[in-house]
Amino acid sequence: AKEPVRVLVTGAAGQIGYALVPMIARGVMLGADQPVILHMLDIPPAAEALNGVKMELVDAAFPLLKGVVATTDVVEACTGVNIAVMVGGFPRKEGMERKDVMSKNVSIYKAQASALEKHAAANCKVLVVANPANTNALILKEFAPSIPEKNITCLTRLDHNRALGQISERVNVPVSEVKNVIIWGNHSSTQYPDVNHATVKTPSGEKPVRQLVNDDAWLNAEFITTVQQRGAAIIKARKLSSALSAASSACDHIRDWVLGTPEGTWVSMGVYSDGSYNVPAGLIYSFPVTCQNGEWKIVQGLQIDGLSRKKLDLTAEELSEEKALAYSCLS
Ligand code: NAI
Repeated sequence: AKEPVRVLVTGAAGQIGYALVPMIARGVMLGADQPVILHMLDIPPAAEALNGVKMELVDAAFPLLKGVVATTDVVEACTGVNIAVMVGGFPRKEGMERKDVMSKNVSIYKAQASALEKHAAANCKVLVVANPANTNALILKEFAPSIPEKNITCLTRLDHNRALGQISERVNVPVSEVKNVIIWGNHSSTQYPDVNHATVKTPSGEKPVRQLVNDDAWLNAEFITTVQQRGAAIIKARKLSSALSAASSACDHIRDWVLGTPEGTWVSMGVYSDGSYNVPAGLIYSFPVTCQNGEWKIVQGLQIDGLSRKKLDLTAEELSEEKALAYSCLS
């Protein structure tokens, strides 16, 4: 039998946490043969709710679940974890300045970085979900210098999956037949959902999405804004932000990272830029990646056209500004 893997979920008493922990306990994240021990962290005002989630995990009697740690102590939460999914953060409230929200999250991610660095298992893989996701991940990386930078990522898989979903609906094929969209850049409305390399499996072989959709006006405008604005559309409809799709995509992100991407398929992950595609090094930026043996690699050599270049640069500029704002909160 496999040894259990310890998975930390911060903000576990929140909306995404409530959708995510049962998925992890059912094997959706790490496979149906991988036992897990869940570490759940939240803050004292949410301690009672967190304990309620723990009670439900006990009640659900998940065969793969070998233990639950539910705590408001960040050291206890981080100790020995192999995977850390950082969902906890400070949400933007009405009337708050961007800088105030950034400042709250910078201090949260700075403290949690130190705790992970000191107490997590060696080679712990980190996924930041909480917004501003890319910049929170960057702060975490900066304050956990002994965690290899390749182990620190942020979630843009939800945007990637949303793009697959839009193409699937438009072409009227199951989403499983669509692949190789790309989300470039920030998990924000400046992200660039790129279909130039995406394909659809058809009875007569794999076809480019551009050929099948055959409507550049839609692909270059409405498709992009629909994916960029999808989070806002969900809030409008549900009066709550995306939770089940965020949780499911977080599982996809970790599963593909740990178990590998299928041959010929890439996914989008926010990772530490090495300057690929002339994206400034030192930002956490979403790229197309393939994964093997527990490591991601940026897909190289894709053709970037003029329109795409502008969009890659625009979202990089926003990330550079966020980085500067985050640093100004540190001093
Ligand atoms: P929520 O407000 O329901 O839950 C957040 C939880 O984090 C709360 O229980 C809160 O008490 C907890 N928390 C706050 N500060 C904490 C700290 N210092 N340590 C531990 N826990 C802390 O929010 P929801 O809907 O679950 O979303 C969580 C985050 O995910 C938000 O920042 C949201 O913007 C982001 N998000 C990111 C997506 C992505 O694709 N990257 C998609 C959807 C949401």
